[in-house]
Amino acid sequence: MPPNRPKTKILVDGGDPQETARVRQLLGFVDGQTTNPSLIAKNPEIQRRIASEHTLSPQEEKDEYRKIVQAISPLVGDAGVSIEVFADIDTTAEEMVTQGEEMFFWIPNAYIKYPCTGEGLRAAEMSVAQQIRVNMTLCFSQDQAAAVYAATRGSKEPVYVSPFVGRLDDRGENGMDLLQNIKKMYRSGDGHVHVLAASIRHVEHMLAALALGVELTTVPAKILEEWAKRDFPMPDQDFGYKAINARGEPLKPIPYKELDLKLPWQSFDIVHELTDTGIRKFVADYRSTLKRSA
Ligand code: E4P
Repeated sequence: MPPNRPKTKILVDGGDPQETARVRQLLGFVDGQTTNPSLIAKNPEIQRRIASEHTLSPQEEKDEYRKIVQAISPLVGDAGVSIEVFADIDTTAEEMVTQGEEMFFWIPNAYIKYPCTGEGLRAAEMSVAQQIRVNMTLCFSQDQAAAVYAATRGSKEPVYVSPFVGRLDDRGENGMDLLQNIKKMYRSGDGHVHVLAASIRHVEHMLAALALGVELTTVPAKILEEWAKRDFPMPDQDFGYKAINARGEPLKPIPYKELDLKLPWQSFDIVHELTDTGIRKFVADYRSTLKRSA
């Protein structure tokens, strides 16, 4: 158990209730959980069903997803469980909201995940008007974070935005700069959007996110286990984050942009290649659970 509980809420990034229970045992708490179609596809029960040549229908897949989040829900604290709608490149906001409205009532502490696309932002705008809590996923730019802020203005519940640090690092950009830039931009806002550092690849990412004072971070169990093995280090005032890739090469800085949070969300340049790639990967992983295995 860490000697001092971090101010930043710690969520488990996964799709297996047993793993969440293990982390809770190790840390003494888990503030919340994020799931996504790729993580759900890896769930041991879903894998067992696929391996036993059982073809999952979309309805069965949804039932499994519901059972998984219902098992995780009581294990976590007030950061809740994020549940992701099925969203392909051409899925409309209305189709996303229909799913979100159903998923939101699966558990009492749900956050509905929509992608940072035009349709995802429209879905968020409609959802917050109905007091459905949202987590805007696949965020790769400051413009997308500004659009999340503008689209959800007036939300009675905190809105989460999930910048994906590791996937930016993967293509040579310093994902931690994006976190820092979004935090800086939100300083002029009303605080209704909470930054959830996602796509965390190692303990240093997590510590840098804590040092930046993000409201939440979602971390895979194996990284939280590594944090425990290292006796729960915390970033002190001398903490320095080395923006390097796995080969030790420096990551390219992401410059800060002056953006006006008062503008309508449609005025921001929300297109990002990694958002589209991320959607395609989630769709492919979701579809893999529907295939009959040989
Ligand atoms: C966040 O909600 C996502 O599930 C997650 O952090 C994605 O991380 P990855 O880039 O390791 O897939």
